[in-house]
Amino acid sequence: MARLKVAVLISGRGSNLQALIDACVRPGFPAEISLVISNVAGVKGLERAQRAGIPARVIAHRDFAERADFDAAIDAALSKAGIELVCLAGFMRILGEAFVARWRDRLVNIHPSLMPAFKGLQTHERALAAGVRFTGCTVHFVRPAMDDGPIIVQAAVPVLPGDDAERLAARVLEAEHEAYPLALRLIAEGRVRVVAERVEIAGASEAPPGRMLNPQR
Ligand code: GAR
Repeated sequence: MARLKVAVLISGRGSNLQALIDACVRPGFPAEISLVISNVAGVKGLERAQRAGIPARVIAHRDFAERADFDAAIDAALSKAGIELVCLAGFMRILGEAFVARWRDRLVNIHPSLMPAFKGLQTHERALAAGVRFTGCTVHFVRPAMDDGPIIVQAAVPVLPGDDAERLAARVLEAEHEAYPLALRLIAEGRVRVVAERVEIAGASEAPPGRMLNPQR
């Protein structure tokens, strides 16, 4: 079966991009990354793409007076490369409504919180301030509002005594690197459907039974 042609949009380090690259080279993985776009030049994620032999482009938002023109340049690059699914991976620009509508249900994002909690920036600082016992990450379809849209995969991690934002971010990031490839695989296998703004996944195996307590006792 033809593999799903994916573009990954980044703005920086690209560790989620790397997790997706690593997944896509596994034998039988149903997706391939055909294009990486960064809105910032010189970032580590671009190196990762280059090392993996994936075509990479910089489309710098600073080069466009209007957001719509930036979005249109990205859209043109995606269309030219025959992209079927767009993965935002630490892409720190908000895409306009027209772009989001055009790519509806073919545009996914990863956010470092258990949505709908802690949308926006500084998620880990805010999770610590709120005193939550669990946090995590969410892969979701993109809608016009920021960090909003039907949830595909979530991974939860405990908040531990002595955590600061950096330690917590590192724990969540490890979970991100598992959650994003899983979401991509489920989509590429054609098992993900959005019904009434909620995601249904065909044949998904549930997480192990039982509850997660934090603290344990
Ligand atoms: C990740 O933690 C991702 O969840 C977050 O940016 C980081 C990018 O890291 N995205 C957002 O906050 C989007 N709202 P990476 O460049 O190493 O993948």
